[in-house]
Amino acid sequence: MNDSPAHQPDRTPVPTDPNETSELTEHTPKEQWGSRIGVVLAVAGSAVGLGNFLRFPGQAAQNGGGAFLLPYFISLLILGIPLCWAEWTVGRYGGMRGFHSAPGIFSVICRTPKARYLSVFALLIPLVIYMYYIVIEAWCLCYAWNYATGALMMGSDAEAYESFFDSVVGSNQDGHVFGEGAGLLVFIGITFVANFILIYRGVAKGIETFCKFAIPAMVVCALCVLVRVLTLPDSDVDGGLGFMWNPQPEALLNPKTWLAASGQIFFSLSVGFGVIINYSSYLTKKDDVVLSGLTASSMNEFFEVCLGGLITLPAAFMFLGAGVASFGTFALGFNALPNVFAQMPAGQFFGFLWFFMLFLAAITSSLSMLQPVIAFFEEGFNLERHVSTPFLGIIALGGAFFVIYFSSGLKALDTLDFWVGTLLIFVLALIQAVVYGWVFGIDEGERQAHIGAHIRIPRFVQYMLKYVVPVYLGGIFIAFCYLNVFGTTDPTTGEYTPGYLDTLLNDSVALMSVIFIFCVMLFLLLMIHIAGNNWIRDGRFEFLKTSDDENMNAANLPGEQQ
Ligand code: ALA
Repeated sequence: MNDSPAHQPDRTPVPTDPNETSELTEHTPKEQWGSRIGVVLAVAGSAVGLGNFLRFPGQAAQNGGGAFLLPYFISLLILGIPLCWAEWTVGRYGGMRGFHSAPGIFSVICRTPKARYLSVFALLIPLVIYMYYIVIEAWCLCYAWNYATGALMMGSDAEAYESFFDSVVGSNQDGHVFGEGAGLLVFIGITFVANFILIYRGVAKGIETFCKFAIPAMVVCALCVLVRVLTLPDSDVDGGLGFMWNPQPEALLNPKTWLAASGQIFFSLSVGFGVIINYSSYLTKKDDVVLSGLTASSMNEFFEVCLGGLITLPAAFMFLGAGVASFGTFALGFNALPNVFAQMPAGQFFGFLWFFMLFLAAITSSLSMLQPVIAFFEEGFNLERHVSTPFLGIIALGGAFFVIYFSSGLKALDTLDFWVGTLLIFVLALIQAVVYGWVFGIDEGERQAHIGAHIRIPRFVQYMLKYVVPVYLGGIFIAFCYLNVFGTTDPTTGEYTPGYLDTLLNDSVALMSVIFIFCVMLFLLLMIHIAGNNWIRDGRFEFLKTSDDENMNAANLPGEQQ
């Protein structure tokens, strides 16, 4: 961050090591955040997205209502916040040593260029999630537009909303977007251009400036809708809130509730996404990472639990009854809620506000998925932004078209979301926990985290990161594969529930989607290989041969020097 007077007085580093001032003569990043509040809002913007307003209520509804919150908060405290701190810490550490993308940062923290290959998931995850996230983002814009024109005020006929959704997204037919559904292309186009203009402007002028406007705007829009929902005349507000929040304790005995809760925490906080390590790599030794990480996570929880949790499901219950518990995330957000808005006073205005707010929330998240990849193209191949942006644009557009074209049953979207947006996030989080706890080391991690920090991380968190998090994540991963990837047979009824592997074998679009993921991964591995060779040739890893302290004292760093 720049040393702008606005945030300068806040920096009172917690003293940790008398040598640290001389130690940290660090690389000055080409890109920097403009202010402390800016970086916190940017990270919060990455976290607050469709996951908060659509995925969270959907997951809670399907996993025991209030009972979901217990594993949810346990996952937040044991996995989410500690891993978030670890990502902020290693991101800044790598950034101060000249790298802003995961391949460089992993090489630096593992002190070997070979470690760059491990980081492939930190590029694959944001890139592939972007490819389908942008499509949902465009649906939100399309819905906001249709509220503005009044086209979505279709009375209380549930089927009308289902047909509308099917006609927008093409869920009945592949290639719908090249026929009757071509209207969606306009919204995809606008969404895409908005994303790429903002990313082209860079982290401070693009991402940070937009988040500074979007987050307050989202709070205002969401609060307006919340007040409307909670003050609806003649409606069962208590019943709606009880439906969302009353616990069904038996759900706690179901391992799927615990898996869903951890998955939600990762998706929602953007932890295990490769985003936070990139964003924090633009910080300097003077910047706090501990309080900033905690603040961004807390903002995300406010949006998720206090706004998302109080609006979507309670509102749907009040108008449509307990049947909404069986609705999936999209049915809840794009079928049930429009039906609700149509029945409430001033529903057209509140419907517009809601979907526009979702669109803003989605943009702040999708931008954060582009930045890690663009940073990699730029530092791996010395590309200027006017080259890296269109290059990434073409790749992302190709992936988005794959998702849009294979729209029947939303199969492509669903497959990418399962394998990348759920399973691989666990894998990356596990890799990061092991690298932080066992390779980088918790002593070094603690020392680095506290440089410039305004609060201290309790020591036991470091032990949790080393021992508890990898074991917890490993357990979740195995249980997740057992319950979702492979089919299961109910021991009492003998009924077989197919897993995702069965889907792959029986569905050509699902199979193609997985092959597509593999192709993107191989492409990224090749790029990582070439970029690493470029860095080795340019001597950017030479400093790893000396001890880190020696190197930092001599300012013998790669890239630009101070
Ligand atoms: N963290 C982002 C969301 O919740 C991806 O939507």
